[in-house]
This record gives sequence, C-alpha cells and structure tokens, in this order.
Amino acid sequence: MPSILVIPGDGIGVEVTEVSVSVLKALGEKEKTEFALEDGLLGGCAIDSFGIPLPEETREKAVKCDAVLLGAVGGPKWENLDHELKPERGLLDLRKELDAFANLRPAVVYPALADASTLKREVVEGVDIMVVRELTGGIYFGLPRGTEESNGGKEAFNTLRYSSSEIERVARTAFEIARKRKGKLASIDKSNVLESMVLWRDTVSKVGREEFPDVELEHLYVDNAAMQLIRRPRDFDVMLAGNMFGDIISDEAAQLTGSLGMLPSASVGNLGAIYEPVHGSAPDIAGKDIANPIASVLSTAMMLRYSFGMEGPAARVEEAVKRVLDEGYRTADIHQEGKTRVGTRRMGELILKEL
Ligand code: IPM
Ligand code: MN
Repeated sequence: MPSILVIPGDGIGVEVTEVSVSVLKALGEKEKTEFALEDGLLGGCAIDSFGIPLPEETREKAVKCDAVLLGAVGGPKWENLDHELKPERGLLDLRKELDAFANLRPAVVYPALADASTLKREVVEGVDIMVVRELTGGIYFGLPRGTEESNGGKEAFNTLRYSSSEIERVARTAFEIARKRKGKLASIDKSNVLESMVLWRDTVSKVGREEFPDVELEHLYVDNAAMQLIRRPRDFDVMLAGNMFGDIISDEAAQLTGSLGMLPSASVGNLGAIYEPVHGSAPDIAGKDIANPIASVLSTAMMLRYSFGMEGPAARVEEAVKRVLDEGYRTADIHQEGKTRVGTRRMGELILKEL
C-alpha cells in the first residue's frame, strides 16, 4: 500500500492540498489502490505548534512514507524570525533530510492557455520544458555562511560550493530525462566568473561524453539563458541548473505558461521524494477559495508517475486538467474574458468530475 505524508503547510498550501487529497482518494477507489495518508506539520504552522519549522515527528514520518505531498510554507507572520527558525528553513531541511537532490519542474504551455501568457502566443505556443534544478547543494547550503561585525558595520556571506559527485548525480538525472524526451539538454552556469561553475560545466560535459553521447548538450551562461528563455523558449527541452540559478530560471519558465499557479514539481533523490507546486504560500489570497489548485494536482500526477509507477492514472489526471481548461474553466490567476471564473474548490470538483 503506497504511503503518503500529506503536508499542507501554510497559506494557500492548505486549500490546494485539500483538492489533491480528494483527487488521490477518488483515484484510489477507481484503481482499487488504497493510499495510506498521514498528516504532518511543516513551516509556519509547525512553528506555531512546536516552535520549530521541521518537527521531529514530521521528519520521521517523511522518511518512513513512500512520498511527501507538500503544499507551501511561509507567510508574513514568521518573516522576522531568525534565519534558522524561518518556515523556509523547514522546507530546506526536509529536502536535505530526504536527500531529494533533483528537482524536476516541467513548464508546459497548454494550448487553451497560450493567450494567458504575458508573452505572445507565437512565442510560447508548444513550449514544453523540463527544468532540472539541483536542490540540496550550492549556495543554499554551502558553508561558511553567516553575518558578522565588520569595521563598525556588518558583513554577511554565503558560499557557492559544489562537489563533482553532486554535479554528476543531478546531471545524470537530467540526461536520462532528456533521453526520454527530445534528447536535448541545456546546462546553465556562470563558468566565465565562478570556479564552482567551471567544475559544473566540466562535469556535465564529462557525464555527457561518457554516458550520454546520444543527448545533444549545450552550455549557457545564466544571464544568456534567462534571455534566451523568453526569446526562443520552444528551442529548449531539458534545462539543468544549480540550486540558485535553477530557482530563478524555473520561475521564469513558469511564467511562460501563463501562471505560476500551473506548475508542479517533483524532488527526487535517494531516501524519498517530495511533490509540491512551484508556487508559494501566497498569504495575500489565502483562505479566500481563489487559489489555483492545478499545480498541486499536477504534482500529485507526478507522484503517481515517479514514486508509484502509475503512469496510466498520472496521465488521466493530466488529461482531466486539460479537459477542464478546454471547457473554459479558469481560476482567477489565469482568467481571461469569455472564460468561466471558478474558485479553488469548484476547480477541484470539475477535475474530479473529468476523472
Ligand atoms: C522554491 C522556493 C523555495 C526555494 C523557498 C521557499 C525556500 O522558492 O521552492 O522554489 O528557494 O527553493
Ligand atoms: Mn523558487
């Protein structure tokens, strides 16, 4: 029986995760597969109950379960806490705990939504990119880090550090995914300035040469990649980047599709996997039943595919989302004239009906 730790988290994470759980339950019945669902606290709500963003109980459950379904963490209430106690820290610690080093963020432009993008239809139509972001290393985790007194003022510092083995393993994941898609990989770095990024480029090249000669590899500096991504997004298939560049590039890729509210993600590694929307907790719209649950629902589809090998049901969930969009239903973030605006719950019901 597949076991899933459900962590709604904060803000709209709660509402969108509720929709995903209903999808899981419906699918479970249809497929005669029972999903064992457990609950966990992470982020702001965990700080409120336990005083820390990643409580021991959540940590243990996450390791034990086959997969984690996460909503989002964070909000203004916890913004001024110490770095180590912030909700975001809980999320980073969970990724590290599960060694979830490869973050897969697909950015797909649905035909029905090509006009919802802020870019022209002819630029974004047909875009289908998979961003593979290294998730447990780089400047997010590099030591030393901190803030110190310096010359009567302050000085703060972080370290961008990558080992060849960290680069190799995430590169392999990206190459393997490219091989199953259009066979193209764009690796992003800043090797004209940073030593860590010279190692990045050399290591990715070596993995490509030795293990994936059939995959077409190109290297781009991150500034150029950011530009090319809005200039010729259709040319990209798989994009590989380190933790921070991947964070930035994946938000940019998301916007090509019209809304961050559409983008799912999977973080996979050695000890477990985390499935979560790319969007955050959006405290400004939390609790109003207007958030887009599609990113969370599509994350659930990724879970079925990657953690449970349930390709059929995963594809059915994705199809259901597509049909609801084709029928003209839109949440506020992707709403356009002539379409039917619906709330979070209603969007969930419509997807369930299609399933
Ligand atoms: C993301 C988010 C997180 C990150 C934050 C909330 C820590 O922006 O998942 O992209 O930077 O990784
Ligand atoms: Mn981000």
